[in-house]
Amino acid sequence: MIRRTTTLSAAVALAAALALTGCSSSSDGSDGASGGKPKLEVSGAFMPQPVMDMAGGFLTVKNTGGTADKLTSVTSPISDDVTIHETKNQKMLEVKSFDIPANGELKLSRGGNHIMFMELKQRPKQGEKVSIELHFEKSDPIKVDLPVESAGHNPQQH
Ligand code: CU
Repeated sequence: MIRRTTTLSAAVALAAALALTGCSSSSDGSDGASGGKPKLEVSGAFMPQPVMDMAGGFLTVKNTGGTADKLTSVTSPISDDVTIHETKNQKMLEVKSFDIPANGELKLSRGGNHIMFMELKQRPKQGEKVSIELHFEKSDPIKVDLPVESAGHNPQQH
């Protein structure tokens, strides 16, 4: 379908560019070597009630597909400054992405990897919900409502 409207060299360059970036764009089903798509499911999401103008977000992304994906960014109406952090030696470090292995999961939990909301536009209270959108390298964005829990909430201690 490409060859009819473009020169051969342009088509080759385009194919090479697609292969390099792993972008499947509109060529659905034609990249048979990828071993299927990531299949993502989000669970256990929450935000501890913020005590300052910043908040953390925690959740698990499960991938039941045969292809790995990456969490690349998070957006939310509650903050224009949302980043993803890992915790190393009790220090938070911003990262570009988190891996979501094929047939595995990405776990964001207190004391570890987390979503960081800075300069909150409002401080949500326990019982309210904060909507966020997760963006991935391959999969379509997923919208999640984070229930706001008590400030010390930690499901892992149960
Ligand atoms: Cu952080």
